[in-house]
Amino acid sequence: MKKNLLCIISIVCLLLNAKTYAQNNNDTLQRKWWKEAIVYQIYPRSFKDADGDGIGDLKGIISKLDYIKSLGVTMVWLNPIYSSPNDDNGYDVSDYRNIMKDFGTMADFDSLLKGLHERGIKFVMDLVVNHSSDEHEWFKQASSSRDNPYREYYHWWNAEDGKPPYRYSLFDVNHDAWKYDSTTNSYYLHYFSRKQPDLNWENPKLRQEVYDIMKFWADKGVDGYRLDAFGFAAKDTTWPQFPKGFEKHFSLYYSMQGNLHGYLQEMNKEVLSKYDVMSVAEGTGNTLEDAHNMVDANRHELNMAYPFEGVDIAKPEGYSLLHFKEVFSKWDSTFEHDGWVAVFLANHDQARMVTRFGNDSAPYRALSSEMLTTFIMTMRGTPFYYNGDELGMTNIRFSKIEDYNDVGTRNEYQYVKNNGGDTTAYIQRKAFESRDNGRTPFQWSNTNNAGFTAGKPWIKVNPNYTIINEAAEEKDPNSILNYFRKVVQLRKDNLVLVYGKYTLLDKGNPKVYAYTREGEGEKLLVVLNFSTTSSTTDIGMNISNAKLLLNNYKDAPSNNITASTVTLRPYEALVYKLY
Ligand code: GLC
Repeated sequence: MKKNLLCIISIVCLLLNAKTYAQNNNDTLQRKWWKEAIVYQIYPRSFKDADGDGIGDLKGIISKLDYIKSLGVTMVWLNPIYSSPNDDNGYDVSDYRNIMKDFGTMADFDSLLKGLHERGIKFVMDLVVNHSSDEHEWFKQASSSRDNPYREYYHWWNAEDGKPPYRYSLFDVNHDAWKYDSTTNSYYLHYFSRKQPDLNWENPKLRQEVYDIMKFWADKGVDGYRLDAFGFAAKDTTWPQFPKGFEKHFSLYYSMQGNLHGYLQEMNKEVLSKYDVMSVAEGTGNTLEDAHNMVDANRHELNMAYPFEGVDIAKPEGYSLLHFKEVFSKWDSTFEHDGWVAVFLANHDQARMVTRFGNDSAPYRALSSEMLTTFIMTMRGTPFYYNGDELGMTNIRFSKIEDYNDVGTRNEYQYVKNNGGDTTAYIQRKAFESRDNGRTPFQWSNTNNAGFTAGKPWIKVNPNYTIINEAAEEKDPNSILNYFRKVVQLRKDNLVLVYGKYTLLDKGNPKVYAYTREGEGEKLLVVLNFSTTSSTTDIGMNISNAKLLLNNYKDAPSNNITASTVTLRPYEALVYKLY
């Protein structure tokens, strides 16, 4: 009886809540669990090693489930954990229905998923299907003879037709995306490394294989997919010559070709619509329209766009806050009426957030990390937060190529060298931007190897682990870690931060980012100082009654508000409720 009553009350609450942000026909305001999710991205190789081989693993993650829960995040995305020879750290899959040996077994995966679900945390699977590994059985078959039934799972160019027209490859030492294969006297296509042949999405059989793989994991209980490099999956198979000199803009050339939207609609019909799963594609194509089409609910493709324009802003020479505001405001308005976006400043393909977008020098590291975290957690869109950023981990800044593991960084170094380029300048640039900076082991404590492994870590540990580590931050109520927990809670307590309208204020201010989030009679004001100096913003409305909800300094600001201006200390972040 009591149970029934509780059940009725919770259904009524759900219905009432469902109405809250859905009173008009605006699709963006329709409540969905994945819009309200807070995603924590774990790079499994570097998170926690349980068996002492120097490589993070699933048992390691399981041992840290309570830590993950304590962060308040509601969803975990793991980079690929499938069987892989690891040319590109798991983004080269040799068996989509098995777990990589380094990471453990399927039984470990099942316990991990169970452990997450028991703690109310959902799980996103990385789906790497633009390409497989050359060690996948499909490729072994396909490359064994021209008439093998798997031949059409990949893209080929017969050598008797001459050399194929130039295609740029991101990870190839010669930038060449066609690799000659003598067994069948032909070339195969690889947009990434030679060990990552591109799958042929134009082949319906291949597409069915992928949908079956997706169902296999959905039946196990995964709650979503992140579609790796999927914008490149469909190809123009007339192979027009890639324009030389256009390499930096390869994405414009490769994205959203052919029938990509058709394939997404088919995937939606075959798999996504049949399960309660969320879907997010890496990249958004070439235009806002592409991005929008991919996630417009009426088109039945994917749920969420993951645009790179924001994360690409940071450069070694610095960046302009005006540009930053313009980009994030543009993406917000793109999805104002329908569609949804992911908000992030880092991931496993980027160097560390605080080094790129904040200031990792001692006086400002904590403040600027917290300020950036406040930004991510107060924008409209689903926050994707990268592991280690909650501690304020920084770039390691390797000074020798030998320290790098990343196939992209190493092969590009070789390319620069082979072509008489400046390798010193290259290494300097990589110290700022190489993705290996974001892949150094998670810093758990000030013990050996930062408490990551009892063995020899697969990549060097950042020596600053003696100061920056989880154990130390747990003990300090004012640590970056504990601030992260507060700001996560603030988002969870205020639905207006998920759905509320975003309005940029004081647009031309080069140091302060100020905006309101507003909806259902509530209004929050966020003011963020992106500089090392005290800065004032005039937000153009009377805020003398504002109530401070959150700030990242130990002591609350005093007398910093006049009728319509707010003055902030260096890298200060303030969130107010307005009345
Ligand atoms: C995506 C992944 C990246 C990987 C590449 C090839 O961009 O995020 O890590 O190297 O695809 O799979």
